[in-house]
Amino acid sequence: MQTPHIPVLLDEVLESFSDVPEGYFIDCTLGYAGHSSEIMQKYNYLQHIGIDRDDEALAFSKERLAPFSQKSKLYRGTFATILPTLEEAPITALLADFGVSSLQLDKMERGFSFNSDNLDMRMDASASLSAYEVVNEYSQEKLEYIFDTYGEVRSYRKLAGAVVEARAKGPIKSAKKLSEIAKTVIPSGGKIHPATLMFQGIRIEVNNELGEIEGLLDAIEEKHYENEVVSLITFHSLEDRLVKNRFKKWATACICDPQAMRCTCGKNHALGKALVRKPVTASKHELKINPRSRSAKLRSFRFKNDSK
Ligand SMILES: C[S@@+](CC[C@H](N)C(=O)[O-])C[C@H]1O[C@@H](n2cnc3c(N)ncnc32)[C@H](O)[C@@H]1O
Repeated sequence: MQTPHIPVLLDEVLESFSDVPEGYFIDCTLGYAGHSSEIMQKYNYLQHIGIDRDDEALAFSKERLAPFSQKSKLYRGTFATILPTLEEAPITALLADFGVSSLQLDKMERGFSFNSDNLDMRMDASASLSAYEVVNEYSQEKLEYIFDTYGEVRSYRKLAGAVVEARAKGPIKSAKKLSEIAKTVIPSGGKIHPATLMFQGIRIEVNNELGEIEGLLDAIEEKHYENEVVSLITFHSLEDRLVKNRFKKWATACICDPQAMRCTCGKNHALGKALVRKPVTASKHELKINPRSRSAKLRSFRFKNDSK
């Protein structure tokens, strides 16, 4: 079966689950089942649950996972809403590979690409908010916030001003047009396309990407199992910061007020520990065969035996 997406850090993800006990493996970002199919092949004692908000991805994965259909269930929706509703237990392995898939990026009509004639960027094609509304209807202040906070664009004010000025002449209907506007503000010739960070900001807003990650981390914190391993792959610093900080919180034994003179909590509040201190990144070989792995960072956390 030809696959439209190469799974990143595959060997490293497989390794992170090498000694998980029997139970459910939840793939929160099923995509094209690149990770799921390999994990199910290698750890055939696991049951599988796949979640995605994209119908195209689910349809493809259903076929790809046909050999495992007896022990695989697929759910359509966002991971932050689906995970808390799952009744299957115990969950012993959980993966999320955040961001967009290669197919979403490459398919012109999805409007994620700089050259697209559409302005969409929805992972869930039935969602009500698309990039069109963000770009054409949000106030200048809101655009500034998105470009600054989610895109980390240095000239975010100038960029929001340029968008507002352009749309005053008529709606901005394509990603192509939007990237031309970015080029008038941000010089070409850097390591990345001038519109990259603006597109990242809009995509995060359209798909509530950071809110979803926070919701997922809350759901995991609320419901975790003995020896469960959680492996999360992030693609930019905003995502990685959320994961890093939450893992730090989960690994903290003392919950006393930092100003307190001495510890009174018993110092036994750690939920488990991170499997690696620093995030795992792609090898030279992987970078060569899959340039999209260059910004991927994998962090894994194992919940301890006596956790709830
Ligand atoms: C990078 S791809 C995953 C690729 C997959 N690991 C593979 O090997 O084929 C991310 C996928 O997660 C989905 N996704 C992103 N955010 C989501 C969310 N909050 N809830 C559910 N699915 C989400 C996207 O639609 C996309 O299909």
